[in-house]
Amino acid sequence: MMRVRKAIIPAAGYGTRFLPTTKATPKEMLNIVDKPAIQYIVEEAVAAGIEEILIITTRNKSSIENHFDATPELNDMLKSKGKDDLLALSKEAEDLAEVFFKRQKEMKGLGHAVLQARAFVGDEPFAILLGDDIVYHEKPCLKQLIEVFDKRQASVLGVQSVKKEDVSKYGIVDGKQIDDRTYTVEGMIEKPSIEEAPTTVAALGRYVLTPAIFDILETTQPGKGGEIQLTDGLIELAKKESMFAYDFEGIRYDTGDKLGYLKATVEYALRHEGVKASFKDYIKEISEKL
Ligand code: G1P
Repeated sequence: MMRVRKAIIPAAGYGTRFLPTTKATPKEMLNIVDKPAIQYIVEEAVAAGIEEILIITTRNKSSIENHFDATPELNDMLKSKGKDDLLALSKEAEDLAEVFFKRQKEMKGLGHAVLQARAFVGDEPFAILLGDDIVYHEKPCLKQLIEVFDKRQASVLGVQSVKKEDVSKYGIVDGKQIDDRTYTVEGMIEKPSIEEAPTTVAALGRYVLTPAIFDILETTQPGKGGEIQLTDGLIELAKKESMFAYDFEGIRYDTGDKLGYLKATVEYALRHEGVKASFKDYIKEISEKL
């Protein structure tokens, strides 16, 4: 039985929904309370037992690499001033995981970004975590999916049902429910209209795939939006191998969207030991004025 040890995080998108911020700052580096969004994603992967992570970046995104690198001058300064708690926070990001980076040279879509990981992944099952989707749950979302992979030895997509009017934002799964939270994947459609959508079951940024996806992506033609779509690769993979979708437990935030990002900020602040009490008072106070 193959264990899922590696994960990739595609982080090469332009982040146009956050312009002008994203002119010079990668959207993955946007702060949620006190950590950049991508650190939450790396933490989830590590908590799910992942040992090596490849982050696919692009030009102008070197701040992501810097974030996971050592900062010896800063750390020495914090140490000399006895600021051990802050030093621990700085070290936490440095020591979190074995993180690798690769640049996607052309912006040809998510499927093309995933293909950049072929040499890193080799012939093993692996996970994909999309940076826009942050999931809050005691049991990390990816861990839930890896358990399904371990049981079924087949690719697993993390899904939740979305509102009908939102199906056009996601890859939508067609399949049959086989138990409480599991579906078979018989087909998929990328960002369908309400009329086209076979279900409201949406792929939400978490995948555990067999390496057979790479051969498929090598020949996948541009699809929706002129991009090489991961969804189109998954459709082919599902024809060759069995594939499952798992309705994961947890609150999922679309931090790639302004409202989703604000919700994540507010809710993570309400959970954060350092600020939650005073932030809650503030939220009560301000909502009375609205
Ligand atoms: C991507 C995928 C889509 C998936 C979504 C999840 O779309 O193409 O299938 O449902 O992520 O967030 P994007 O949001 O990058 O346009």
